[in-house]
Amino acid sequence: MNGSSERVVGDIFLLIAIVSVVLLGMITVSMIYFVLRYHHRKHPEPAAIQGHTGLEILWTVIPTVIVLALFYYGYTGFRTMKEVPASAIKVKVTARQWSWLFEYENGIRTEELRIPVGKPVALTLTSQDVIHSFYLPAFRIKVDAVPGMTTRMVLRPTRVGEYDALCAEYCGVQHAYMLTKVKVLPEEEFQRWLQSGEKKEKETAPKGERLFKEKGCISCHRLDGKGGIGPSLLGLFGKEVTVVSDGNERRVVADEAYLRRSIFEPNAEVVKGFPPIMPSQKGLLTDEEAEILIGYLKGLKEKP
Ligand code: CUA
Repeated sequence: MNGSSERVVGDIFLLIAIVSVVLLGMITVSMIYFVLRYHHRKHPEPAAIQGHTGLEILWTVIPTVIVLALFYYGYTGFRTMKEVPASAIKVKVTARQWSWLFEYENGIRTEELRIPVGKPVALTLTSQDVIHSFYLPAFRIKVDAVPGMTTRMVLRPTRVGEYDALCAEYCGVQHAYMLTKVKVLPEEEFQRWLQSGEKKEKETAPKGERLFKEKGCISCHRLDGKGGIGPSLLGLFGKEVTVVSDGNERRVVADEAYLRRSIFEPNAEVVKGFPPIMPSQKGLLTDEEAEILIGYLKGLKEKP
């Protein structure tokens, strides 16, 4: 089988529905027939029946064949979503609280998945923190992203368009916001984008700003002074903040050391009014990247 996941799942769903409706019809009709035919007024004395070998064989063989057929189609369909064809475009998907990161073979990283139409795309999924689940309703496919493990999903997009992608495994307060898009592009447009588009963006955007997006900081920390799931980071550097550590409130100055602590040990002291939910970036950010991020945060000044 070489169909797209939505086609494969649709066909099997239809097959199971047809089998179920036919069986329901047959059972209902025979039930009504037996109720009328063997009503106690017609048969006050029940007859003794010894069984029927032919019937026994028949109602064992037919359901077995049906179930095996369903298994066959289910299994071959499942394989089309798991086996990676040699020609497949490979994308690494990383889930984290609370955003998705897509990495292409040439190093491009994005927050939205772009794929070409008519070509198999193999996604390898993993998670940085807890279990998430990458769910593409339009493709009828859903695969868990598990920390310390890689899982796989093969897509065969058949139509150009924009589709929803979401997280289908409760993963914390911002679970519902792990929404992104899958953009299915014409092959040429995809290649052009892959070669140039994002690269240009990569070269022009300052590194700190890029890291802030790529590492997912932006999904919780706003940069406009308004409260998000975490505190806004606009104009934070050099300010005094009230933090809670071990149940005690303290005032601290948001200097470089404070920012570094907040990145690597976010829950040692938590800004008052916010829940202690930030995942530590230990092992996720190199020291150099942390420095760049801190430099970026220092530059985020409020407009006078
Ligand atoms: Cu990630 Cu729910």
